[in-house]
Amino acid sequence: MKVDVLLGLQWGDEGKGKVVDVLTPRYDVVARFQGGPNAGHTLEFDNKKYVLRSIPSGIFQSGQTNIIGNGVVLDPVLFSEEARALEQSGINLKDVLKISRKAHLIMPTHRLLDAALEAAKGKAKIGTTGKGIGPTYTDKVSRNGLRLGDIEHRFEEKYAEARQRHLDRLASLGAMPDPEELATLEAKWKEAIEYISQYDIIDSEHVINRMIDEGKSVLCEGAQGTLLDVDFGSYPFVTSSNTVCAGACTGLGVAPRRIGEVYGIFKAYCTRVGSGPFPTELFDETGKKIRDIGHEYGAVTGRERRCGWIDLVALRYSIMINGVTQLIMMKSDVLDSFETIKACTAYEIDGKVTRDFPFNLDDVEVKPVYTELKGWKTDMTSMRCENEFPSEFKAYLDFLEKELATPITIVSIGPDRTQTIERKDRV
Ligand code: GDP
Ligand code: IMO
Ligand code: MG
Repeated sequence: MKVDVLLGLQWGDEGKGKVVDVLTPRYDVVARFQGGPNAGHTLEFDNKKYVLRSIPSGIFQSGQTNIIGNGVVLDPVLFSEEARALEQSGINLKDVLKISRKAHLIMPTHRLLDAALEAAKGKAKIGTTGKGIGPTYTDKVSRNGLRLGDIEHRFEEKYAEARQRHLDRLASLGAMPDPEELATLEAKWKEAIEYISQYDIIDSEHVINRMIDEGKSVLCEGAQGTLLDVDFGSYPFVTSSNTVCAGACTGLGVAPRRIGEVYGIFKAYCTRVGSGPFPTELFDETGKKIRDIGHEYGAVTGRERRCGWIDLVALRYSIMINGVTQLIMMKSDVLDSFETIKACTAYEIDGKVTRDFPFNLDDVEVKPVYTELKGWKTDMTSMRCENEFPSEFKAYLDFLEKELATPITIVSIGPDRTQTIERKDRV
């Protein structure tokens, strides 16, 4: 019995796709459990780069079953674009990918609603990816959603009902779409539904549990990050799903007692896209340097990612919520040229120092308390084992492990599959 979960501990884009690809050969199944095409998971190998949005990052290895679980929201149009491109590059996707009947569908009007609701918020906007995520999960929770399995049951009628409800809401927001534009979007959407119907659409909770009973192992791939979780993130500047470990249980139908390792991924620094609090954000040359060296631009929207120092207050909180058993540190190489590196160990709020992640980060001034460490000033990108690590980098790892009370078992030193160093003695 082995169901492991891999998830982001910060505000997303930690490098989940890369590590899922690296770990996939150890598993029989790779499954996405929440989120949708708001995700952009990048993989690099053999001098090629791929960005996956709804499809699990296990598809480039061979022999695994990949599953899109019930907790995911799926846009048929974006899915078909992503899937067709992969088919063209030689992947027999229909043989290796299965999709849950219970996954909810993102409709064209959900995307229009996402844009209209953001516009209505004005300055308070979330800075969503514009993929209709919020409105689709809202329909799910308010019991109005359309699921992939509905294709087989009164689909046209359910679609029309939801569409009308969305149009009424759009009218109330003064954002009625042009009928011709909407018709074009809908024609594409219906064509994409035909395409998606060619896939193996399954009762994924039964399939997964049967496989576990047969002794197969599952890697659950998180999207977004813990600080974007709808319950525990920096609400309301969050996404609309449970990105935390418990989300793997509800998003796949896997019981909590089945969960084994929980891999928590973080960058050696910190980034965020969209609005919302970010205590360690840097607005100076250092922030710009991290963005330039780390190529910190969104994989989905191309937006500049906000950059800052690592935040151990937030990381400790994420580790606690998820029950992280192993840490994975990404993009260590981005700090290769820094003279010194800072790590936030506590927040000072209204003159009081706290090590706990607070309820409110929005309307208060949060002053990070930093520990400064010596930089390693060494190019680590071609290193292949941890014995080669410079002593200052080892000291950074030791410091983080102590502060976070969790072992760092994998260190990533570049975007390629091969630039991944396991620390076997830490497992
Ligand atoms: P995800 O959403 O968590 O899968 O992460 P993204 O793919 O959105 O963002 C991570 C970015 O960092 C991608 O462009 C990766 O190719 C890149 N990347 C991953 N690991 C490393 C690393 O160790 N070093 C560097 N320099 N880049 C990395
Ligand atoms: P991956 O899986 C980083 C952010 C958006 C916005 C907020 C809500 O690649 O790590 P949404 O469209 O979900 O309603 O937007 O969440 N966001 C992400 N930020 N990485 C992601 O995914 C994200 N998915 C959503 O920028 O602030
Ligand atoms: Mg991403």
